[in-house]
Amino acid sequence: MQTKIKEITPESLQEAKNIIFNGGVVAIPTETVYGLGGNAFDDGAVKKIFEVKGRPNDNPLIAHVHIDYDLSTIVDSIPPYAEKLRAAFLPGPLTMVYPSKGKVSPYVSCGLDTLAVRVPSHEGAQAFLREVGVPIVAPSANLSRHVSPTSAKHVFDDFDGKIPLILDGGNCTGGIESTVCDCTGEYPVILRPGLITKEMIASVVGRCEEYVPKIGQGEKVKSPGVLYKHYSPRCKTLLFPAENVENAVLRYRQETQENKGVAVLCEEKWICIFEKIGAKCLNLGKNQTEMATRLYGLLREAEGLCDTLIVIEPTEKGGVMTGVMNRLQKACASEDIPHGNH
Ligand code: TXA
Ligand code: MG
Repeated sequence: MQTKIKEITPESLQEAKNIIFNGGVVAIPTETVYGLGGNAFDDGAVKKIFEVKGRPNDNPLIAHVHIDYDLSTIVDSIPPYAEKLRAAFLPGPLTMVYPSKGKVSPYVSCGLDTLAVRVPSHEGAQAFLREVGVPIVAPSANLSRHVSPTSAKHVFDDFDGKIPLILDGGNCTGGIESTVCDCTGEYPVILRPGLITKEMIASVVGRCEEYVPKIGQGEKVKSPGVLYKHYSPRCKTLLFPAENVENAVLRYRQETQENKGVAVLCEEKWICIFEKIGAKCLNLGKNQTEMATRLYGLLREAEGLCDTLIVIEPTEKGGVMTGVMNRLQKACASEDIPHGNH
């Protein structure tokens, strides 16, 4: 199969729509990362997404809808606090988990009785969702466990020959995936941190908690995606806390002595230290937004650049950095966290 990359035009949207209604998958841009989209009502299309990504079949998908889509078609109940969050943040990088009406394919939520719904703000994504008129399930358009894609080229690198069409909506500005927020309880609970922060949600509805999976304690995990190794570049990655920059320097020296290709990924303020000792540096930037936007592109760049990537944790914590740190820790983990009892 030839994989075409096309800018978003009335013609390419029509082509994408034809593919979707013939049970195929299309890569689409969003403001966070690119997604691999298929018709949420079509069992075959949903199964194809899992297959083409190599995604574990217990990790549910997010249904993406147009801002004017009638949610009551697919979800059972929307609590008042969720209405407030919708008004405050949608369209935007906030995915909300509701009790499902069981109308979409049963493969979407992998046996959970909930459905995650997202209304992306990217203009191209909205145009595509309006054109198709059905909920589109779309995981990040990367091979399972690889780094998420923030450009059409990243998607092409993972899926050349495996999908027919990538709609090119430019580089994603957000850079890390949407915040996933459980809206089935009395107050919102963040299942995956992202660009809409705990602080932002709390400022609208008063209370917001973060979900901490109790692995191995017999509890069914609420968001199975939290268990898997994710976002990983195909090189060895070593993560150092900002307080241990000296150790990172020592490790850099040790690794280069062993004749390995070594690069360093760090925020802007450390670049001069590493450049002084001759290191190839990948500059994460100097503020929260920059770091989120650049993270995945740089992790992908590192793959072509080195055998070992030394990563220095950003100094700043909280806000968007909670999401950035969550991705960095997973990208630099060496093994899956052991499965709970689910
Ligand atoms: O920004 C994003 O959310 C991107 C773009 C393409 O929209 N999509 C994305 O999808 O990141 P994916 O499949 O890579 O991640 C979906 C996350 C997983 O952690 C999954 O476990 C969680 O959402 N999820 C999906 N449905 C769920 C549900 N019913 N209950 C709890 N968590 C759910
Ligand atoms: Mg993903």
